[in-house]
Order: sequence, then C-alpha cells, then structure tokens
Amino acid sequence: MPSRAAAVVRGSVPWSESRHRRSRIGTEIRTFIEPADLRRALVADVREGLTPRPRTLPPKYFYDARGSRLFEEITRLPEYYLTRAERSILLRAASSLVAGVHPASLVELGSGSSGKTEIVLDAGEREGSLRAYAPIDVSRDAIERAVVRLAGRYPELDIVGIVGDFHEDLELPFAGAARLVLLLGSTIGNFGPDEARAFAGRVRGHLSVSDAFLVGFDLVKDRRELLAAYDDTRGVTAAFNRNVLRVLNDRLGSDFDPDAFRHRADWNEEESRIEMHLVSDRRQTVSLPSLDLELEFEPGESIRTELSHKYTRESATALLEDGSFEVERWETDEEDRFGLALARPR
Ligand code: SAH
Ligand code: AVI
Repeated sequence: MPSRAAAVVRGSVPWSESRHRRSRIGTEIRTFIEPADLRRALVADVREGLTPRPRTLPPKYFYDARGSRLFEEITRLPEYYLTRAERSILLRAASSLVAGVHPASLVELGSGSSGKTEIVLDAGEREGSLRAYAPIDVSRDAIERAVVRLAGRYPELDIVGIVGDFHEDLELPFAGAARLVLLLGSTIGNFGPDEARAFAGRVRGHLSVSDAFLVGFDLVKDRRELLAAYDDTRGVTAAFNRNVLRVLNDRLGSDFDPDAFRHRADWNEEESRIEMHLVSDRRQTVSLPSLDLELEFEPGESIRTELSHKYTRESATALLEDGSFEVERWETDEEDRFGLALARPR
C-alpha cells in the first residue's frame, strides 16, 4: 500500500483538510492555498501584468468555478479537437502505458474534471497495482466535483484531492512506490518556453527512478484548424477568456466591463503558439481600488491572457530531455493532432 502520504508545501502542513473516511481507504481534500496568500499573489500578478505595456495576465486566473465549467464546455466543442484526440490515444494506449509503469498511484497536475483520467484509472485497476489517486488543481470547484464523482466510481482507491498551485513547490504525494504523474490536456503548452523547461526539471526533481511522467502535447498543424479551436463559433472560448476579468472584479473589486473587451486568438508562427487576447473596444478607464490603480485602455489595446504552445515530437522530446527525462514512449492519435509522451527520469 502506498502511504496516505501528506502533500506538503515548503515543509508546511496543508492549510485546511476535509476528510471523508471510509473503512480502510478514504477521500480527502487538502488545501494549500490560503485565502490571504492567494490574494497577495493575485495582487502582485495583476500589478506586474497590467501596469506595463503590453499587458498580460497569468492563465491560472481563468479557473474559478465558472471558468472551470466553461473550460469543460470548450472540451466538448466541435472545433476543440484536443480533448477528443488525447482521449482516443488514451483509449488505445492507456493499458500498455500503465503496464510498463505498474503505478501504485497516479498524481495529476492540473487535473480539471479528471474526465480522461478515468481511462488511466480503469487501466490501473485492471492491471492491479493501482491504490491511490491525487488530482491537483488550483480550482477548488474542479477538485471537489472530481473527488466526489471518483469516490463513487472507484471505492477501492485512496483519493486525495489537492487544491494548490503547481507552480509553487508542491511535494507530490505517495512517494515510495511507483507513481505515474500526469500532465494532460496540453496544459504544458500554457507555460512560457523557459517556464516549461523549468517545470519539467522541477517535476523530475520530485521523482524517483520507478516513477514516470505522462505529458500531453498539442501538435503543430494547419493554422486555420488551430485558430478555429481557439475562436469557436458559439463564443464559449470568448466567454472563457472574458471570465478572467470577472474573476478580477470578484476578487479585487475592480470594475472591468467584460463586454467592453473582444476575444481575439492569434497564431504566432515564429513561437509556434496561439496567443489569446482581450481587446479593448473603446478608450476606457478601469479602476482597481484595492491596488490603488487606474488603468487606461486605448481602443484596440489588449491584455494577453494565454499562450498555448504547439509542439512537434522533436520539440516535445527536447523539452523533456532538458528537464532530465528520457522519452520512453510517444503515442499520437490517428490524425497526428496530439501527442502523449511517457517520460522516465534519466
Ligand atoms: N487536465 C484537464 C484540464 C486541463 S485545463 C484536461 O486535460 O482536460 C487546465 C487545468 O489546470 C485547469 O483545471 C486549471 O484549473 C488548472 N491550472 C491552471 N493553472 C494552474 C496552476 N498554476 N496550478 C494548478 N492548477 C492549475
Ligand atoms: C488548458 N489549456 C491546455 C487550454 C489550451 O488549449 O491551451 C486552455 C484553453 N484556452 C482556450 N481554449 C482552451
């Protein structure tokens, strides 16, 4: 049995825990984001991102309860092929990927709804080695919904939901027996290039030789297909993008008018990434009283809200090798839209 290990941040204990113990095993939710720290980080990120021009915001602020649900709606859109493509790879390859690792636990970074993860959990249960699952996400709403659903579906698994920021120095739980760490959905694409390398290196630092890292990469493809995936006809991606302004209004008391900002997605060929923007449709002033800040927006001026890098097999392999991993398996869907790399610590 893996230990029901504590996840710790910089040696501290979780800020809050809720346990729903069943007989031998259990579910629990550990929270590593203290409201005061969350607010301090938000204030610093907003000041740093919105004061200089061009303006930017970190993508993690999309994901309050509404943002998590909007993202899940995106995954069902006809234009957003990423989730379906990754799901098809997992349906074909999860059993053999899991058989190569014999994981006693799965630890998932940015788990969201953990929808596709069920394919890996099923494979782990069939294989017989799997005892525990820890979804980690900044969205409390996503963690709570996933833990409740999965506890019903997998009564034999120990489930530890972790509400935390994976850019902080999260210690991954269940050390001591083989772990499969997941970073699905092409979330790695949302990191800047240096950030992605540093992140891979940090994950590597937490793993031992029997552990493995399964990472999903969205692949470079026709720009029209990419642009459609990030600017759907129903406007769900636009609502998701604008949601970050509602999050700032809720948490900081700012007076952004989300409808005064237009959603825009650009393809940056040189950097191989989609860039999402919110473009001010008029000259406007936004106040952020809790930061003692007034922001002037010119018509057409934008806030860049997200980068979404697209990889090739070569660039994905190079990234993981830079983080001291070795790519053991590379799987793609039938149309080569998406790639899954199974990496081992070198
Ligand atoms: N893995 C899921 C969800 C991808 S969406 C899938 O493949 O469908 C990205 C997820 O990462 C969201 O659930 C979001 O809340 C989470 N996330 C974004 N930034 C984060 C951060 N800094 N720390 C932890 N989770 C984060
Ligand atoms: C979570 N992440 C991988 C998504 C992406 O495709 O970059 C977020 C998203 N942004 C717009 N649509 C979906």
